[in-house]
Amino acid sequence: MQKKIKLAVLISGTGRTLKNMIDRTKAGTLDAEIKLVVSSSSSASGLQYAEEAVIPIEILERPAFKSQGEFSTAIFDACRKAEVDYIAMAGYIKFLDIPDDFTNRVLNIHPALVPAFCGKGYYGDHVHAKVLEYGAKISGCSVHFVDQKYDNGPVILQKAVEVFETDTVASLNDRVFKAECEAYPEAIQLIAEERISVVGRIVKITPLTEPRVVEF
Ligand code: GRF
Repeated sequence: MQKKIKLAVLISGTGRTLKNMIDRTKAGTLDAEIKLVVSSSSSASGLQYAEEAVIPIEILERPAFKSQGEFSTAIFDACRKAEVDYIAMAGYIKFLDIPDDFTNRVLNIHPALVPAFCGKGYYGDHVHAKVLEYGAKISGCSVHFVDQKYDNGPVILQKAVEVFETDTVASLNDRVFKAECEAYPEAIQLIAEERISVVGRIVKITPLTEPRVVEF
């Protein structure tokens, strides 16, 4: 049986990404177990999905901590206590200091094709508005490991979508989010299957081994 990876999911808002992960784990199409949900806000509506799925919740709000460092430490301590293998940021909008033991173990999804339309200030609808304003013909999403710069870590996978002249921020957001709902579980599944290795900033994906040819 495929080993399940133990995940903590970090949210700040509506939790659609979290819901997608919960649905996929329940359907048996994602070999992950969500051990903990951490929210940066007690009013994040996405917390309802954690409650419904009976997943332990930690609410850690930035103003409760004196510094960025103490805030980050509290989050990673909660994740260590929950004994998770990986952390998935899912609409999480706070910047974290990544400790050494979590290098290449924190994932994020960005709603554009990095290194375009990313970095500080590029989140949510702002990203899609910038894509439309620029006149880009393609956008998409990028699943990447998180390092100490915004949207900068090694890219695990990307999915492209077309941008149409008739697009609005909302319609582009919908199309990109559909791609995100495929890309994020796919990336986590690759990790669960131990098919990912990171060399410098390059993520290598081991192809599935060919089925053995049986001769009669
Ligand atoms: C999406 O734009 C995703 O790319 C970004 O957060 C948004 C989803 O947030 N990381 P949520 O899951 O609906 O809270």
